Amino acid sequence: MRLSKVDCEIWECVCKLVCCIVRLHMSWPVSGIMDAVFCGIVILQVFTSVLCFPNGAPASACVDMIPRHGAVQPQPNPAPYTIHPSSTAFQTGNPITVVIKGPDYRGVLLEARSGSDSKALGSWQTPPDNTKFLECSGNQQGAITHANTNIKNNSTVYTWIPPATAKNIVFVATVAQQRTVFWVQVMSSTSTEGGGTSLDVHNSAERTVTPVLIIPLVLLANVQFLLA
Ligand SMILES: *[C@@H]1O[C@H](CO)[C@@H](O)[C@H](O)[C@H]1NC(C)=O
Ligand SMILES: *[C@@H]1O[C@H](CO)[C@@H](O)[C@H](O)[C@H]1NC(C)=O
Repeated sequence: MRLSKVDCEIWECVCKLVCCIVRLHMSWPVSGIMDAVFCGIVILQVFTSVLCFPNGAPASACVDMIPRHGAVQPQPNPAPYTIHPSSTAFQTGNPITVVIKGPDYRGVLLEARSGSDSKALGSWQTPPDNTKFLECSGNQQGAITHANTNIKNNSTVYTWIPPATAKNIVFVATVAQQRTVFWVQVMSSTSTEGGGTSLDVHNSAERTVTPVLIIPLVLLANVQFLLA
């Protein structure tokens, strides 16, 4: 039918890189700084190979849930998807099921969270066909992601076991119809613990780590590129 996803990603990468080098060398009348920043980002992407994940989201996506699909932007809200837990009340240890309703989808990253905390809570059970676990927040069964790009739909049922600590849970999903068409952090309504244990609260300091690390890397990539 066509090139494999990975081939496409590599090809896309090479094209962007070549295009970027050509632009710089021909000194097109475009902002040089913007071009340099753009090139830095592209080079970074090539070197780190974080462009392509046909086999599921990487652990680095656990917090922001943004697919590492290069410069592709999420679709604007509202998403055509809704997340449906089987119940809005849960008891510690009793499984509840979650379905994502909407058009067929191929990519997914699904977590249970508490309030605005980005920690992945609870324990997902045996992943349905074409999906797998993703370790998030040090929790081996903290998230589910796609295992391939086969179709998932409203018959794809995810099963989750609540932890002892959470009182309010929201299911949060990034859903991709295709590589370039996805919605980030689609949320279910809140499910509440039947009992009365205290809310699990953590700060989200890790949110700031990625940008802080990336800025010097982009600058470094630019310096190396311009000197080459
Ligand atoms: C969901 O997708 C599976 C696999 O492609 C298919 O067998 C099933 O009929 C679909 N279900 C619905 C409700 O579309
Ligand atoms: C599931 O999807 C199919 C096909 O899009 C649709 O006909 C059906 O009504 C959906 N079922 C539910 C429970 O949303």
